[in-house]
Amino acid sequence: MNFENLVLERQSDRKYDTSRAVEDEKLMKCIESARLAPSACNAQPWKFIIVKNELLKAQVADCAVSLGMNKFCVDAPSIVVLVLEKPNLTSKVGSVLQGKEYTLIDIGIVAAHFCLQASDLGLGTCMVGWFNEKKVKSLLNIPSSKRIPLIITVGYRNAELRTKSRKKLTEICTVI
Ligand SMILES: Cc1cc2nc3c(=O)[nH]c(=O)nc-3n(C[C@H](O)[C@H](O)[C@H](O)COP(=O)(O)O)c2cc1C
Repeated sequence: MNFENLVLERQSDRKYDTSRAVEDEKLMKCIESARLAPSACNAQPWKFIIVKNELLKAQVADCAVSLGMNKFCVDAPSIVVLVLEKPNLTSKVGSVLQGKEYTLIDIGIVAAHFCLQASDLGLGTCMVGWFNEKKVKSLLNIPSSKRIPLIITVGYRNAELRTKSRKKLTEICTVI
């Protein structure tokens, strides 16, 4: 797919074909594209957990369902948990000196790589940031000191492509 079409086709998919599992190779291809993402000082402060165990997957999905939100996670054929790992020293020092959370910028980029690659493989994804993080950590034996910025649901979409609702170019871009 050319890049323009890829960007148009990537959308947050919240309806999946529940009869169709995501092939392991496709998930690994998404992780491989994520692996190649840039990061501050090349710190690569991330780990991906593919939750294959059906019971665990259901329990993790359940952690995202609250206040009437994210019910779709329960039907997601695959769930990937993105863990924020410690950055290297240069990234850490740079973050402090610059007053910028480089690791969170890195996480956004790596998640975008993952989701764009998934789109190119014909898969739908949704980045989910609203979930019971404490519970997910406990389910997956992740130390409480670590953070889980995102869960990503993956599956074959069972919905139409939407027109993107975005600010106008003139609202987000200034030429000086
Ligand atoms: C950091 C982040 C957190 C998000 N959390 C959620 C979420 O908890 N639930 C959800 O349904 N969508 C979530 N989204 C998806 C956004 O709602 C979506 O990207 C945005 O509305 C634009 O729509 P599109 O992705 O279909 O283009 C999240 C997206 C990002 C980048």
